Amino acid sequence: MNDEASLATPQQYADAVSTAVRAAGAYYGDGSTPLGDDEYDALVRAIEAYERAHPEEVLPESPTGKVAGGAAVGDVPHSTPMLSLDNVFSVEELESWAAGLERRLGRPVAAWCVEPKLDGLAVAARYRAGRLTQVLTRGDGLAGEDITAAAEAVLGLPARLAEPVDVELRGEVLLTHEQFEAANAARTAHGATPFAHPRSGAAGTLRAKDRAYRVELTFFGYDAHGLPGLDHAALLARIAELGANTAATTEAAPLRCATLEEVQRRIDEIAALRAALPFGIDGVVIKADAVADQEAAGSGSRAPRWAVARKLQAQHKVTRLLGVEWNVGRTGIIAPRAVLEPVVIDGVTVTYATLHNPADIERRGLMIGDQVFVYRAGDVIPRVEAPLVEERTGAEQPIVFPEVCPRCGDAIDTSEQRWRCVRGRACQAVASVIYAAGRDQLDIEGLGGTRAVQLVETGLVADLADLFTLTREQLLTLERMGETSADKLLAAIETARTRPLNRVFCALGIRGTGRTMSRRIAAHFGSMAAIRAADAEALAGVDGIGTEKAAMVLSELADVAPLLDRLAAQGVGIQVTEPTAAASAQEQPGEAATTDAGPLAGQSVVVTGSMTGALAELSRNAMNELIERAGGKASSSVSKKTGLLVAGEKAGSKRAKAEELGVPIMTPEDFATLVAEHLA
Ligand code: IVH
Repeated sequence: MNDEASLATPQQYADAVSTAVRAAGAYYGDGSTPLGDDEYDALVRAIEAYERAHPEEVLPESPTGKVAGGAAVGDVPHSTPMLSLDNVFSVEELESWAAGLERRLGRPVAAWCVEPKLDGLAVAARYRAGRLTQVLTRGDGLAGEDITAAAEAVLGLPARLAEPVDVELRGEVLLTHEQFEAANAARTAHGATPFAHPRSGAAGTLRAKDRAYRVELTFFGYDAHGLPGLDHAALLARIAELGANTAATTEAAPLRCATLEEVQRRIDEIAALRAALPFGIDGVVIKADAVADQEAAGSGSRAPRWAVARKLQAQHKVTRLLGVEWNVGRTGIIAPRAVLEPVVIDGVTVTYATLHNPADIERRGLMIGDQVFVYRAGDVIPRVEAPLVEERTGAEQPIVFPEVCPRCGDAIDTSEQRWRCVRGRACQAVASVIYAAGRDQLDIEGLGGTRAVQLVETGLVADLADLFTLTREQLLTLERMGETSADKLLAAIETARTRPLNRVFCALGIRGTGRTMSRRIAAHFGSMAAIRAADAEALAGVDGIGTEKAAMVLSELADVAPLLDRLAAQGVGIQVTEPTAAASAQEQPGEAATTDAGPLAGQSVVVTGSMTGALAELSRNAMNELIERAGGKASSSVSKKTGLLVAGEKAGSKRAKAEELGVPIMTPEDFATLVAEHLA
């Protein structure tokens, strides 16, 4: 359902009410839901619009105006009602909400506080003399369920506060992404179905009794009763002082803002940070900071008038799994990919999502035709999280796993979680050759898809090394290969023979080593001989290679040993440079080697947006090579350690983050001037 959806008849209205009631029941019950959050919000808005136009037809069970859509129940009365929040969905709606509040107050709001809207479950935690005595869910807002037994596993909600005070802390309990993964690993290990997404996981965990395994959750406090007189930002600081967790410990910390412009800026910042946060948020909450303003504004039956939620687009959507494709990668890995009924998530149409590996499909118990939860955040590859088992119709079909390699028909090695064609990279000779000839590897012009297929199918080329022994006569036997093209291709191959070590290494297509890692490995060891002589420990000394990846790289290197011998015999990849290994051995973990010379000496540099001017033709890899030639360290994410951001056109969240952290920002043109000496 989209934003424009409207209800025309009493029947449509009644259907919409019953769908919403069912969805709210599932959402506040076990945390599952047959509707995505965006769809639910749109449905409730359509119901509200109908009720405004037909006030005499309002059904008693309508979810509008009720906390938790009227769904949840509980038997322990709350000290004061646990309210919900009204929503706004745009800058304009926020402005008109704020104007309404100021009209009601008859004065401007003294200050705002802007904080993340945590996507979990509201709880009230009662402390007597600093000791935790009872924890309640929100329930219907007037009474909640007693979940005190679950509190022990909630990080940030201490059994004892730092001072012996009587207070009721209110806040959100959620599963961080890490806790969600851990919870599902524990569940599947115990034969239980995985949680569909973190919120249903939090709901299920808080209510669970006598479980054989422990699932940790996290509390974020955002309100308190019993600490009178404190403005909101001060109240949050006091909650933290007492020893409970608040969002102040996160990058999306609450911020006091003087004007609505500042509020809007903070909303944008939090939205930009969203994908990188270690937990889910579904919006940003804007509150009048001053107690005086809050008291003067008061509350309605459902929500306070002094706070509002600016909802963000949902990152989880429900759609249908139409099929599963099995693709063979460059290294022979056979990877399943979900084909989905197209669904728009956060402005992007998602048609495919990753399914990791066959074991993962089995763990999640997926079937073709299932309604599934799909997650997408920022640049993250969309993934299928879980089926909505309750929504099954019986028409769902099992997912068929391939019995032979879908590319070459040879056997499949299923001994590891990721299945692989027994022929490994040979299964993919064509793809391997195309990859090796690519712009960021050996950059062999004239060796595209068609030529690679010809060369492999005629038997002239079985792997990368064969390229360097091709003769003019051999090339001329190929169809549509004239003398000029043959000479051009031979010249391009000749140029490729002297490509620097990082490019040759990258061309090998070793698992886990893309362009960045290849540059680091090449710089670290200085020569192919040194790389080949390295043991797992030496490899793990390269920035970003953990012990696990080091073992994998080592075994891949053993695999390609004959290929490396033949390449060396052809004079490919034999360049030697000064290794940085000695220097990097003394560095802090996580910091790559930088040289002490060059205009970027010692600096971590991030590139974002499209490059222009002298840099227009450079691929991201070539930019990173340039940064390293100029003495810097190329990095892909902005942090406090970033020394410089080169921001071209259409720079997005990285730029916002750099601005927030005060990282210097340069245009591509200025950067080109700075590193002019090192531009090849
Ligand atoms: S304030 C009177 N602040 O969102 C205070 N709520 O959709 C009302 N939520 O029921 C709540 N993060 O469960 C507040 N920073 C935050 C929040 C937050 C998440 C939840 C809370 C509330 C729901 C309303």
